[in-house]
Amino acid sequence: MSVQTQLKRITVPEIRGHKGAKPVVCLTCYHAHTAKLLDNYVDLMLVGDTLGMVIHGMETTLGVTLEMMILHGQAVMRGAKRALVVVDMPFGTYEESPEIAFRNASRVMKETGCQAVKLEGGSRMAETIAYLTKRGIPVVGHIGMTPQSVQVFGGFKTQGRSESDWPAIEADAKAVAEAGAFAVVLEAMAEPLAARITAQISIPTIGIGASPACDGQILVMEDMLGLNPNPPKFVREYAQLGPAIEAAVRSYAEDVRARAFPGAENVYPMKKAQ
Ligand code: KIV
Repeated sequence: MSVQTQLKRITVPEIRGHKGAKPVVCLTCYHAHTAKLLDNYVDLMLVGDTLGMVIHGMETTLGVTLEMMILHGQAVMRGAKRALVVVDMPFGTYEESPEIAFRNASRVMKETGCQAVKLEGGSRMAETIAYLTKRGIPVVGHIGMTPQSVQVFGGFKTQGRSESDWPAIEADAKAVAEAGAFAVVLEAMAEPLAARITAQISIPTIGIGASPACDGQILVMEDMLGLNPNPPKFVREYAQLGPAIEAAVRSYAEDVRARAFPGAENVYPMKKAQ
């Protein structure tokens, strides 16, 4: 007899079903405790390779390893019970061939338990996206400003500012959708171009610094919480946790130095001698 377990987690087809309907709410997430906090509110959590910059202080995402992604993916999966969890494939782990991409992506899925992977690149990655999806690995695409190509772009530069660049980027979006990706991130892209792509393809577009017309939005959680002193221009901050943490730590340091810290006698009062 087969035992069917009820899947309460949001599924890949459910995210795909958001196309042209309810916007997909997405945030990046790198830890178990924040995953727990986000879980009731977001549809999709991305364990993004931005963790190299945000958590590990790297200047770009190029130094992020598969092992780092797996470790943070496992942490997020321990905290997220409802949202769909997508883990980024880091630079150098998928571009060489579809077979190598499958080996590494299947390792990410097996070792983290995540539901899908994300990889950067449009038309050039279409063959790999098709190879993975046909073999049971759901893929989110990522086009526009793809941070793993920062050295080729010469910086984190908005894409599609000139209309002459649009046909190639539109072709990337179509290639990713036709190859079988179930959603695609449009990052740092001219607004009218992101809106056009959203109207042209059959899968949800997830915008970041792209267009409100996208089928969903994603931000780096630490950026929207005000933890990044230099956030990208398009980021709306919903809290100021950076200054709040600094103020709390300053008060703590003052208390410790003034010996105004609750002593053990307050927490564990001495028992009176009988
Ligand atoms: O790595 C990441 O966090 C991302 C988002 C910015 C979309 O790819």
